[in-house]
Amino acid sequence: MKIIRSIKQMQRVAREIAAKGQTIGLVPTMGFLHEGHLSLIRKAKKEADIVITSIFVNPAQFAPTEDLDKYPRDEKGDIKRIGSAGSEIVFIPKAADIYPDDFQTWVTVADLTQTLEGESRPTHFRGVTTIVAKLFNITRPDVAVFGMKDYQQAVVLKQMLRDLGFPIKLIIAPTVREKGGLAMSSRNKYFTPEQRREALCLYYALRTAKAMVKSGETNCRRIEKEMRAVISGHCPTAKIDYIAFTDLNTLKPLEKTAQNTICSLAVRLFKVRLIDNMKLS
Ligand code: PAF
Repeated sequence: MKIIRSIKQMQRVAREIAAKGQTIGLVPTMGFLHEGHLSLIRKAKKEADIVITSIFVNPAQFAPTEDLDKYPRDEKGDIKRIGSAGSEIVFIPKAADIYPDDFQTWVTVADLTQTLEGESRPTHFRGVTTIVAKLFNITRPDVAVFGMKDYQQAVVLKQMLRDLGFPIKLIIAPTVREKGGLAMSSRNKYFTPEQRREALCLYYALRTAKAMVKSGETNCRRIEKEMRAVISGHCPTAKIDYIAFTDLNTLKPLEKTAQNTICSLAVRLFKVRLIDNMKLS
């Protein structure tokens, strides 16, 4: 497996791969890889000849109050895991190369970034779309794979692809869950085993919503009330940022569940902010 740290070298290698008629799959990550990331690499492997996995803890998507400095890192372990999942190239650019001192061009998706995560984290998506656009320009992928756990991110990126005409197929791969149902996330490492059990409240709440819809409930406020009760019952100190019912494609809020309803939630537990979601219908 090749490790590339320079943008110029990455661009050259991407051109060489394309010149050989091979397709490129890109899996952008912020490192500290878990099974969820590895499933994205395996998916990319099925879709493209050569898989590039990037590791870049993107400062532009963290607000000053967020956990950029504390964000877990394990480059050595990541490189091993990426190789064992079948990726041919790891791209690890330096922050100073991605955002040089005179950097001043940002990619912004307007409406889709105003709700859900965008309300709590107003500058987050601008950071995500800018780095992903930049990674697309550097690696020139045919396919890019993102996880369903960051569902709004995937919808925002799809819009960016359409609006800016990137000739890339975007794949959204299913959320990988730990044994009890907790969605895999690099931030889970902040929890003690007991806290990890309490963190299951997000999954239990989503399962409650899914069961209510299955048994005929369509009123989102009633479903939300039950979900709040499940969360506070399971983890009394949890602070709910939002529970939202939206259309899967447009992210428009819904009062009643309909076809293609997704429930998303963000909850703060023990100073860690977790997100999760589930398609309800
Ligand atoms: O989902 C993530 O890990 C990040 O938002 C991404 C897509 C790698 C951009 O930094």
